[in-house]
Amino acid sequence: MRITGRTAVITGGAKGIGAVTARLFCEQGAQVAIIDMDEKAGDELARQLHAEGNDIAFFQADVTDELQVGRTAEAILQQFGKVDILVNNAGITMDAMTLKMETETFRKVLDVNVTGIFNCTKAFIGGMAEAEYGRIISTSSIAGTGGNVGQANYAASKAAVVGLTRTWAKEFGPKGVTANAVAPGFIETEMIHTIPEKVAAQIRQLTPSPRLGTPEDVANAYLFLASEEAGFVNGTVLEVDGGMLK
Ligand SMILES: NC(=O)c1ccc[n+]([C@@H]2O[C@H](COP(=O)([O-])OP(=O)(O)OC[C@H]3O[C@@H](n4cnc5c(N)ncnc54)[C@H](O)[C@@H]3O)[C@@H](O)[C@H]2O)c1
Repeated sequence: MRITGRTAVITGGAKGIGAVTARLFCEQGAQVAIIDMDEKAGDELARQLHAEGNDIAFFQADVTDELQVGRTAEAILQQFGKVDILVNNAGITMDAMTLKMETETFRKVLDVNVTGIFNCTKAFIGGMAEAEYGRIISTSSIAGTGGNVGQANYAASKAAVVGLTRTWAKEFGPKGVTANAVAPGFIETEMIHTIPEKVAAQIRQLTPSPRLGTPEDVANAYLFLASEEAGFVNGTVLEVDGGMLK
């Protein structure tokens, strides 16, 4: 899968799926810029991958803050000269049953998972369109397509990612930029460590491929959509869920 020589920005790349993606993209010969709020984890990962001979840098920013994202985009473009691939992976959950969910909590999840993706895409699309090449990959979830109990905010945000992706496929396709989404099922990261083991066992039972997903499963889907070979894949939602929702 060719991404050699490409520059990739990975949001939420300090931990979990994003961190595994940063390593994979480095191994595949890309230059990588991580954007994340978590300075300690981001610095540590970048230092480690840099020491292993990779061209990688960490930039601390909150994706919900348009000004911070704009300044960060400028710094990344200054350091790397271009951005070819944007992986809009940063995301949060703040679960509660709808009757108990505070409006504030509803808004916060929408802000990170939707406005954050909008801010980052807006910051990088200009350069991609000018270069007539780009790959935008945004992270949805099976909660966005199937809904999930206790996740009204998260499900709404991840459904919105599909709407954004299909809109951008249409807006940016003529400029040589593709926009696709990945919808992971249950993946073993910090995000789902709050799930009780009994529920995790039920999830495994409901999954035709009877296991939880790994961050590598998702990172490989990102890699395909980021590659040159995926040039005619545009506006799709790639489910990485072991067949759970079929
Ligand atoms: N783990 C799963 O089961 C699962 C399932 C479906 C979808 N997803 C999606 O995959 C993506 C990655 O999830 P993960 O499991 O690796 O999560 P994670 O919590 O392990 O990592 C998320 C990263 O995003 C960063 N982040 C959070 N808010 C941010 C902000 N405002 N600005 C910048 N960075 C911010 C965090 O610091 C963290 O490093 C998310 O979009 C998530 O919704 C995960």
